[in-house]
Amino acid sequence: MKTAIIFATKHGTTAQIAQMLADQLGSSGQTTLINLCIDTDPSIGEYDRIILGTPVYAGKPLKSMSRFCSKNLAALLSKPLYLFAGGMEVTNERQAGELLSAFAPELHSHASGAWFLGGAFNLEKMSFMERFIVKRISKTTQSVTAIKQRAIRQMADNLNK
Ligand SMILES: Cc1cc2nc3c(=O)[nH]c(=O)nc-3n(C[C@H](O)[C@H](O)[C@H](O)COP(=O)(O)O)c2cc1C
Repeated sequence: MKTAIIFATKHGTTAQIAQMLADQLGSSGQTTLINLCIDTDPSIGEYDRIILGTPVYAGKPLKSMSRFCSKNLAALLSKPLYLFAGGMEVTNERQAGELLSAFAPELHSHASGAWFLGGAFNLEKMSFMERFIVKRISKTTQSVTAIKQRAIRQMADNLNK
């Protein structure tokens, strides 16, 4: 079974999450990590199942992910599909909302599951404007990691079934 984890990232946390997920997938198949910020137009024909992951910024997925999904919609709807979103929202309701806004409704309807896997605020990697927004909205004064290890485990367990 060939699995592709196709993700977008701006500051590296979603790449970290994708790697953690890959590490927990069973060894019976082969898992390939594809970073859309490096490989912007990957071909997915050879994969048996696809995992898509994007962080949410201001309630939206990264452009590289929405562009990839629009371009490959038919192919994505023809394969087993799993979704995850990253972000720093705290409540279950808001996390569910971010997950919904990260991917088109057709992808959600087709997917076997969708998970919110948390994220991190890396103040030292942010632009001045990002730091300003994050400090104002979340009142964060230092970098903080809130990757949801348990949710990654649950997603991996679901994929390993
Ligand atoms: C300017 C800015 C806006 C953000 N907006 C949201 C948001 O709307 N919802 C959310 O859950 N997280 C939000 N976040 C948190 C990011 O999704 C989080 O930092 C994520 O882990 C970043 O992933 P990356 O390092 O892969 O780019 C925001 C972060 C920044 C810097």
